[in-house]
Amino acid sequence: MKISLIPRSREYASTVFDVVKIFQPELTWQELMGETDGKTVLMEIEVLPAQVLVRLTEGEWFSEPITDNEPNEVKRTIKLAVYKLLQKVLNHKGSPWGILTGIRPTKIVHRLWDQGLEEQEIKGVLRNKFAVSSEKISSLITITKLQRPYIANLTDSSKVSVYISIPFCPTRCHYCSFPSFSMDQWGNHVEQYILNLIKEIKNVGLALQEQNIAVETIYMGGGTPTALTATQLGNLLEVINSCLRTSETLEFTVEAGRPDTINEDKLKTLKDFEVERISINPQTMWEPTLKKIGRNHSAGDIFTTMELARKIGFKVINMDLIVGLPGENLEIFKHTLDNIEVLKPENLTLHSLALKRTAKLRENTENLTPGCEVEKMFTYFEKWALDRNYRPYYLYRQKLILGNLENVGYCLPGLPCLYNIQMIEERQTILGLGVGAGSKIINREDGTFRNSYNPKDLILYNERLEEIIEAKVDKIKGLG
Ligand SMILES: C[S@@+](CC[C@H](N)C(=O)[O-])C[C@H]1O[C@@H](n2cnc3c(N)ncnc32)[C@H](O)[C@@H]1O
Ligand code: SF4
Repeated sequence: MKISLIPRSREYASTVFDVVKIFQPELTWQELMGETDGKTVLMEIEVLPAQVLVRLTEGEWFSEPITDNEPNEVKRTIKLAVYKLLQKVLNHKGSPWGILTGIRPTKIVHRLWDQGLEEQEIKGVLRNKFAVSSEKISSLITITKLQRPYIANLTDSSKVSVYISIPFCPTRCHYCSFPSFSMDQWGNHVEQYILNLIKEIKNVGLALQEQNIAVETIYMGGGTPTALTATQLGNLLEVINSCLRTSETLEFTVEAGRPDTINEDKLKTLKDFEVERISINPQTMWEPTLKKIGRNHSAGDIFTTMELARKIGFKVINMDLIVGLPGENLEIFKHTLDNIEVLKPENLTLHSLALKRTAKLRENTENLTPGCEVEKMFTYFEKWALDRNYRPYYLYRQKLILGNLENVGYCLPGLPCLYNIQMIEERQTILGLGVGAGSKIINREDGTFRNSYNPKDLILYNERLEEIIEAKVDKIKGLG
């Protein structure tokens, strides 16, 4: 049975929608607003000067005290009251993230550190004000402590990070909904795209120089950058190094990705242009799954590619894994981890499967791993990683993620990816170049930021290049 708000309480619908969805994931906005037929349980919310009262269909009132009348605090109290009521009445354990929905949990913790709170006080706030579980609290404390020396100072406008998008893949993996163009269909657009991207890079580089702004980190991702040829990669890297890189640039990552796109020539090119960090992504080391999800490589290819990358001299390699791929369980995941242990990447990023509308796997969801099994795999990984000296260093949550979990990046001591930290913590301006790339422009006055995106459509990007460049250069002029 679905929950809907009584007419008088509908003004709180946007505040409580995400919280009610923790308990009823299929709930629609229309249902919550009582705009559909069918039986619903009625929820009533009363906001009084010192407390929030909530109840379901004339049951017992549940109350939560309001300790601060600041509007955001009142909203938080309403969420907490609804969350606790539903936990009790529906006999449901809720979410390990409590009422932290639609917000990056680490950002809240950094704000608390900024205010000078002690560790114990921060733990208290997360537990009592946001109902976060003790496991998640402890990982938030570990992650934010590790990040503190690296996160940008909000008032420092002299540095930015840059994301460069290569939106091509050999073919599309069945779980993926990242915007990307398959080489079969779009291969003949690549050369023109590179020319246009180079134009954007050159103009952005010039504008940054004029404003005396240095690029702290560069991340080339996608898609699959190594879907380009070695020559194409070389041309691009040469321009990036001459236009964006300075003595203050601390890191340059290229997400190589699928091993079927990587060869010795391409790796040597990356190395020649001083790319320090690359990704080689297995997702899983279980052969039947690799076939099922449309990855065009074997587990053996991961070993060969890693060996090649080490031989060429790459010292920091990341590997992406996904928990919850169809048909997988804890035993299969352990098999993957046994292989990873032999490969010893410096960084590991654990994703929990999130199936968006455009993913091919959404067509057949029968074989999906249940949320509770995914949770087991996730918990197993946390201990596995810790025992092997990996530490979590960034975390983000996505919609539609299995088991209400998160994505977490791990690193060996001293080797986090700085770009990932700056991007997730949203304290440094990020300039996104190329198709679909997002930019975040930080407002130094109040710490807020503005998102803007280049077109996701390759043709539109090409057509609108001049105005895209002009708008970006204007933004850069406003940073100084
Ligand atoms: C933008 S993709 C690029 C990676 C690269 N092209 C490759 O396939 O190896 C970055 C990562 O997101 C993760 N990812 C993609 N789709 C996902 C999904 N539906 N759920 C969870 N993680 C996903 C994968 O681990 C992937 O390696
Ligand atoms: S997972 Fe990587 S290779 Fe596969 S479609 Fe997505 S971006 Fe492309």
